[in-house]
Amino acid sequence: MAGLDPGPVVAPIAGGAEWRRGRFVMRVVALRDDVLRVRIGRSRALPEDASWAVLPEARRQHVDVQHEPGGFATEAVRVRIDAYTGTLAVADAAGRVILEDAADAPFSENGHAFTLTKTLPAETSIFGLGEKAGGLDRRGRSFVMWNTDAYRYQESSEPLYKDIPFFIGFEPNASRRGRAYGLFLDNTFRSRFEFGVRHPGQLSFGADGGAIDYYIMAGPTPADVQRAYAWLTGPPPLPPLWSFGYQQCRFSYMSQPEALLVAHRLRAARMPCDVIWFDIDVLEGHRPFVINKQAYPDFPGMVEELGQLGYRAIIITDLHIPRLEGVGYAPWETGAAHNHFVHDANGRVYIGKVWPGDCAFPDFTRKATREWWGTLLGREVLVDHVAGIWNDMNEPSVFGTPTRTMPLDAVHRIEEPGFATRTASHREIHNVFGMQNARATYDGMLALRPDRRPYVMSRATYAGGQRTSVVWTGDNSGTWNHLRMSTPMLLGLGLGGFAFAGCDLGGFAGSAPPELLTRWFQLGMFNPIARGHADKGSRHREPYVDGEPHSSIRRAAIEERYRLLPYIYTLAEEASRTGLPMMRPLFMEFPDAAGGYALDLEGGNQFMWGSALLVAPAPFPEEVDRYQVILPPGGWYDYWTGARIIDPALATLTGGSGTTAQAGDDPEQMPHRVDRVPQLDRLPVFVRAGHIIARQPLVQSTSETPQGPLELLIYPGPDCHGSIYLDDGLSFAFRDGAYLRVHHRCHREPDGATIVSLGRHEGTFGPWWTRLELAIHDAAAPTGPVRLDGAVVTDMRYDAQARVLRLGIPDQPSGGRLVVRS
Ligand code: NOJ
Repeated sequence: MAGLDPGPVVAPIAGGAEWRRGRFVMRVVALRDDVLRVRIGRSRALPEDASWAVLPEARRQHVDVQHEPGGFATEAVRVRIDAYTGTLAVADAAGRVILEDAADAPFSENGHAFTLTKTLPAETSIFGLGEKAGGLDRRGRSFVMWNTDAYRYQESSEPLYKDIPFFIGFEPNASRRGRAYGLFLDNTFRSRFEFGVRHPGQLSFGADGGAIDYYIMAGPTPADVQRAYAWLTGPPPLPPLWSFGYQQCRFSYMSQPEALLVAHRLRAARMPCDVIWFDIDVLEGHRPFVINKQAYPDFPGMVEELGQLGYRAIIITDLHIPRLEGVGYAPWETGAAHNHFVHDANGRVYIGKVWPGDCAFPDFTRKATREWWGTLLGREVLVDHVAGIWNDMNEPSVFGTPTRTMPLDAVHRIEEPGFATRTASHREIHNVFGMQNARATYDGMLALRPDRRPYVMSRATYAGGQRTSVVWTGDNSGTWNHLRMSTPMLLGLGLGGFAFAGCDLGGFAGSAPPELLTRWFQLGMFNPIARGHADKGSRHREPYVDGEPHSSIRRAAIEERYRLLPYIYTLAEEASRTGLPMMRPLFMEFPDAAGGYALDLEGGNQFMWGSALLVAPAPFPEEVDRYQVILPPGGWYDYWTGARIIDPALATLTGGSGTTAQAGDDPEQMPHRVDRVPQLDRLPVFVRAGHIIARQPLVQSTSETPQGPLELLIYPGPDCHGSIYLDDGLSFAFRDGAYLRVHHRCHREPDGATIVSLGRHEGTFGPWWTRLELAIHDAAAPTGPVRLDGAVVTDMRYDAQARVLRLGIPDQPSGGRLVVRS
C-alpha cells in the first residue's frame, strides 16, 4: 500500500463511514445495529453491489448511526477507522473489542488476490466454514474454499464439496460470559482462511480475486450471530414432513424389482421409511432425464406402487448433459440450440467427461438457462412422479482432469437480475455453480408444481444455497472415524446456515460392519436428514440386512425418530423461520456456561437436538471404555428411563479446561459430567429440565395418520415450556394460516402443586389427535384429584418407581389449566 495520495479521510455517510486514501476506498455501513457490511474498492470505486448469497433487501438496508470522529456507533457497536492506515476496529457498545485489524492496513494485495488480517484473542474459538472434516473448533487450522469432489475424503482432506465462507468467533471465558461474533466473506473465488496458524494471535482470510466485501455480526450470543446470518442470507425453507422420515438409497437399485423388493422388505421388517432414492443406474446410459427402460420398464407405475406402500421417490438429476447428436436427446439438442452451455476459452461449448461420457455444462448463472433447466424437469419421468430431486456432481466434478473440475478459464455468463451482465471465468463461478444448479432445480420444481414444497438435495453449494437445497456430506466412508466425524461436520453445516443436512448413514464408500452400521443408525436418527446410502460394490446397507440383534436395535432407533416427529418437525419449522440449526453445538444453547471449554468445543461429538435433547455418543465410537458425558448447567433427565439425574455421586462438577472448577466460578453455571459405558442397544440421550416434548404414536411412514393421543412429555424445571408446530407437511398453505401452533408451559407452585398450562391452538390447521397423554416426570404421587379447569381427570396412572404421572385428557383447542397437587 505504498505510494498513496496524501490526505486520507474518514467521512460520514448514511448508515456508516467511508475511508478514502489514494486508489483505496472502504465503506462500512451498519445494515442493522448489530450487522456491519464492509466493502473495499481498489480502484477508487467500490466493487459492484451484487451477491449470490446475501439478500438484496438485507444488503441495501442501513440504520441511523451516530457519527463520531473517525467512525460511528449504533446501539450495538462502535466502529473506528484509522484515517491514516484505514484499519478497522469494531467494539461492542460497552467498548469491548469484537474484531480489529491486526495489520497496518485493512488488507494486503498480491495482484488480484487479497488478504485481511484480524486479531484473534487467545481464548477465542472459531466455528463454522460449513462442511469441514476434523474437530469443530477450527482454531489452529487453515482452510481452503473450493468446491471439490472428494470421494473417500478423510479427516485431513481439504477442501470438500461446499464453500460457506462464514465463521463464528466465540470466547467462552467465564468472566466475559461467552461473547460471539460472526464474519462472512462474500467472495466466490478460491478463498483461504487461517486461524492462529501463522501468528497465534491473528486470523486471516482472503481470496484469489473478486470483491472485498464482508459482513460482521456482533452477536453477542452465538444464536444472535446465527439469526443475523440467516437474516443476511435467508433461512432455509421448510421441507416437506416426509423428508424427516427415514430415507433409503443405494448406488444403485439396479432394477425396478430390486427397488420394490427393498420397499417391501422394509415394510415386512416393520422398519419405518418414507423415501426410496434412485441413483444414476435408473437412467439410460446415466443420461439425466432419461429412464433406463430395460431396468425400469414402468417407472411411473413403480412410483405409484411405492406410493401405495407409503413411500415417495427421489431421483438423481446430475447437471452434466451428454453430447448426444442426432438421437433426439432434448437436453443436449435444446441446450446447444439455445446456447445454454458453458464455453471454453475459445468460445466453443466446453466438454468434459463425467458418468455419461462427453458432457456439456449448463450455464446456470444465466436466468434463461436456469429456466430452461427447469422445463427439463417436466420431461417423461420427473415432476409428475417424484417427490424430490438429487443434484449430485455439481462442484462441478469432471473426470480425468488433475483438477477434477473444468478449466479455470472456462467462460460463464452472468445474465442475472441484480448483476451487471458480463462474462466471468470459472475461477469466479466455480464455487457458486452447484448452488445455481440446485436453485434452477428448486425453481423449476416450483414452477411445475406451485403448490408443493420442492425438495432438492445438492452436494456442492455456496453460502445462501440453503434457500433452495438441503445437502449431504458427500462420499464419506464406512469407518468408525467417519461415524465420529459426522457430528462435527453436520454441526458445521448447521452453523453455516444449512439446518437441513445429513450424511450417508453407514458411510458411502466401503462396507460398514454390522456393529458400526447399527451405531450409525442410532446416531443418524438424530441428524436432520436420515438417509442410508451405499457405494456400488459395497455390501447392502438397508437396516434389515444383519439379522438379530441388529435388526431390533436399528428398528427401535428408527421407530424413536418417528415417535419424535412432532418435536422434530417443530424444530424444522423453527429453523426455517430463524435459521437456528436443528443440531446445535452445546455452546449455542449454553453460551453462558462457566468454564466453556468443558462444553466439548473441540471435539464436538456431543450435541443438542433442538434446545431440549442432548445426544451423547461415545467420543471414540469403536472403543468400549466408559466415557464422560458433559451435562451443561441446569437439570437433566435420562431420555430413555425418564429418571432425573440427581445423584451427586453420578455427577461430577467440572469446568475450566475440562477438569476442575475454578475459584470464583458459579457452581450453578458449571457443567457436570456423568459416566456412560457404551452399550450397543442404547445411545445416551438426555432431556433438559424445563422442557416439554411432543411425541406421536408409531407409524411406518408419514403418509399414515398416527392413531392415538399426542404424547406430551413434561420434564419439570425452570421456565418449563414446549411448542408444537404442524401443517399439511406438503404445501405452502401454512403461509396463509393453515398451520397449528401450540405453546405449553408448566411450573411448580411454592406449595408443591404442579400447574400445566396447555396452550390455545393457533392457526387454522386441525390436528390428527383428539386426545393428549401427558407424562409428568419427577412427579410425587398426587395427594388428591388432578383437575383440568376444575374438572377431575379420571384417566390417571402413577408409576411410583419411575416417578411418572400419566394423564389422559381430551385435546384442549382453547387451552386449559391442569393442577396436580402432591
Ligand atoms: C457421487 C455421490 O456422492 C454418490 O452419493 C452417488 O451415489 C454417486 N455419485 C453416483 O451417482
